[in-house]
Amino acid sequence: MTAIANEPDGSTPLESDEIEGLKFRHVTTRGELDQLEQVNIESGLIWLGRRRKTDILTEQFIRTLHRRLFGEVWKWAGEFRRTEKNIGIDPLQIGGQLKMLLDDARYWVENGTFSPLEAGARFHHRLVQIHPFPNGNGRHARIAADTYIMDRFNHEPIDWAAGHDLQRSNERRNTYIAALRAADAGSYEQLLAFVNARHPAASSHPIP
Ligand SMILES: Nc1ncnc2c1ncn2[C@@H]1O[C@H](COP(=O)(O)OP(=O)(O)O)[C@@H](O)[C@H]1O
Ligand SMILES: [Mg+2]
Repeated sequence: MTAIANEPDGSTPLESDEIEGLKFRHVTTRGELDQLEQVNIESGLIWLGRRRKTDILTEQFIRTLHRRLFGEVWKWAGEFRRTEKNIGIDPLQIGGQLKMLLDDARYWVENGTFSPLEAGARFHHRLVQIHPFPNGNGRHARIAADTYIMDRFNHEPIDWAAGHDLQRSNERRNTYIAALRAADAGSYEQLLAFVNARHPAASSHPIP
């Protein structure tokens, strides 16, 4: 089971009580776990596409989405974490901070505060920064942000991976994690570039 702790940079190692929640006792490698999670995520995405279109900006939806994506693998899927992680706020603040984010995200739609991609990028960053769950936060928050911009802005989903695997160490992941860290420090430029929210208008339409 120790191999499961062997995560790429920018992920949150699991506590032993969290590993206890693994529904498959035979898993020994990170690759096996990745595969089980991937199968679960795919069935979660089917649920997401077919569900009744309720308000997604609720704690209940955020938790249900996590349970649908990871609940066949982890017993604690959909439940907020109770332990401190290297990423994320104090676990006691998760519910309150999540509510503030969901209220802000609703406000951004109603007031046209940001472009759809910028709203999606900010929503994603705030959600992973809260880090509501013991694991799966990156994947969950990318899908949640896509659902937000599709449902609320009628916009196509973000091309997060751009042909790479964001769960593995590679240039795309390094750029992604660096962009999230810059956003932690208050600068969204890198994350906006990452999600293609900043089109180089000047170069595509050169001024004669
Ligand atoms: N400095 C950071 N600030 C905010 N979010 C971060 C930071 N570093 C990593 N993350 C996010 O946390 C995720 C890793 O958390 P984890 O719960 O292990 O998610 P997953 O299992 O889906 O990879 C990364 O994919 C990224 O989305
Ligand atoms: Mg992880």
